[in-house]
Amino acid sequence: MITIVKDKHMQLFLGTKNMKNIAMLLLLSFSFRSMAAEPSKGEVETRKIMAGLYSSLIALLPLSMNTKEFNDPKNREKILSELEKMRDSANSFVAHTKRFDGSYGYIAKSMATDIRDIHGWFKKGAASESRYLLQQVADNCVGCHMKLPDPGHAPRMDGFFQNASVAQLSIPDKVRLQVALRQFDDALVTWEEMFKTWPNPSELFAMDTLPEYLKVVIRVKGDTSRALKTLEALSKRTDLPKYMDREVTAWKVSLVKLMGEMLKMGAELSRAEKVIKDARGQMDFPMDRAGFVDFVVASGLLNRHLLDKKNRADDIARSYYLLGITESLIGRSTWLSQTDYYFEAAIRAAPKSNSAKKAFNALEQQIIMQNSGSAGMNIPDDIQENLEELRKMVRR
Ligand code: HEC
Repeated sequence: MITIVKDKHMQLFLGTKNMKNIAMLLLLSFSFRSMAAEPSKGEVETRKIMAGLYSSLIALLPLSMNTKEFNDPKNREKILSELEKMRDSANSFVAHTKRFDGSYGYIAKSMATDIRDIHGWFKKGAASESRYLLQQVADNCVGCHMKLPDPGHAPRMDGFFQNASVAQLSIPDKVRLQVALRQFDDALVTWEEMFKTWPNPSELFAMDTLPEYLKVVIRVKGDTSRALKTLEALSKRTDLPKYMDREVTAWKVSLVKLMGEMLKMGAELSRAEKVIKDARGQMDFPMDRAGFVDFVVASGLLNRHLLDKKNRADDIARSYYLLGITESLIGRSTWLSQTDYYFEAAIRAAPKSNSAKKAFNALEQQIIMQNSGSAGMNIPDDIQENLEELRKMVRR
C-alpha cells in the first residue's frame, strides 16, 4: 500500500489509522500531487535558511541556559558570531517569505526584530536581557511550525536534548523547544507523558498545554485518533476539575465528528466556513472553548487553502477573515497575536469584498479595545495611520 503514493505529504497520512479506503487513498494522492511533489526552489531555500537558524540556535541555547557560561568573556566571540549569523539568516528569511503566505512574513519580521535586539543587547554587554530574549525566540519558530502539516523532513537532534543544560529544562520548556526544532513526534510523547503524570491538572489548563498539543497533533500531524486517545486517557483522571472535564468531553465529540475533515482534500474554504459556523452555534458563552477542536480543524483547512496560488482574491480575503476569527478564539493571547494581522491581510487581499468590510470592523474594534483603558483611548500614531489607510481602501 505504501508504494502507491510517493508524495512526501502523503506519507504523513499513511501512518494514521483512519485511512481504510483505497479509493480515498488514490483520490488523495492525486490532489496532493499538485500541492507538493519534489521540493520546489522556494522550499529548498526555506530549508537552507532554517538549517542556518537552527544550527546557531542549538549552539546558543545551551550556553544561554547557564548564566555563568553566557557571561563568560571566553564565550563572547562565539556568541556574537552566532548571533550575527542568526541575524543575517532572519533577514534573508524576511525577504524570502515575501514570496508565500503572508502570515509567515509577519512572524518572520517579528523574529528578525527580536534577533536584532538580542544581538544589540549582547554587544552592549547587557547579557541578561539578551539571554532572556534569546529563549523567547523559540516562540517565533513555534508560531510558524504549528501551522501546516509536517513534511517529515526535519533533522533528528537527539544529542541536543541530551546536553546537560537542556536536559534540566522544565517539561513545558522542553516541549516548546521540541516544537521549535520540529521534533514533533518527540513533542507529542513529552506532552502525553505530562498529561498522565502532572500532579495538578488545573495547571495544565493554566499553561495552555492541552490546546498547544491539540494544534500539533491535529494540524501538524493530522492524527485525530491519537488526539482522541489522549483525551480519553485524560478523562479517566479522577482529579480532573469539572470545568476541564466539560471541555475535554466537548473536544472528544468534535474529534469524532471531524475526523474525516483533515484527510479530505478540496473545497477547504467552504468546509472550514461550515465547521466554524457550526462550532460558534455551540458556544454557550463568548470565552467558551468547547469549540476549540473545531476551530483548530478549520484553521488547518484555511492555512492549506491559502497555499493554493490559483485562489481568487475574494476567496483569499475570506480565508484571512476566517483565520482572524479562528485565531481570536484559539490563539495564545499572551503571545504575538496574529489576529490583527489576519484581518489586515483580508482587507488588503480584496478591499472591495464583503469579507474586507467585516474584517475592517473587527480590526477597528480590536485596536480600540487594545488601546483603551480607564484613562481613555490612546492609539499610537502609526497604528492610527494604518487604520485610516485601510478604512479608505474599504470605502473607496
Ligand atoms: C516564518 C515562519 C517560520 C519561522 C519563524 C521559522 N520557521 Fe522553521 N520552517 C518553516 C517552514 C515553512 C518549514 C518547512 C520547510 C519544508 O520542509 O518545506 C520550516 C522548517 C524548519 C526545519 C526543518 C528543515 C528541513 O530541512 O526540513 C527546521 C529545523 C526549522 N524550520 C527550524 C527553525 C527554527 C530553529 C526557527 C526559529 C529560530 C524557525 N525554524 C523559525 C517556517 C518557519
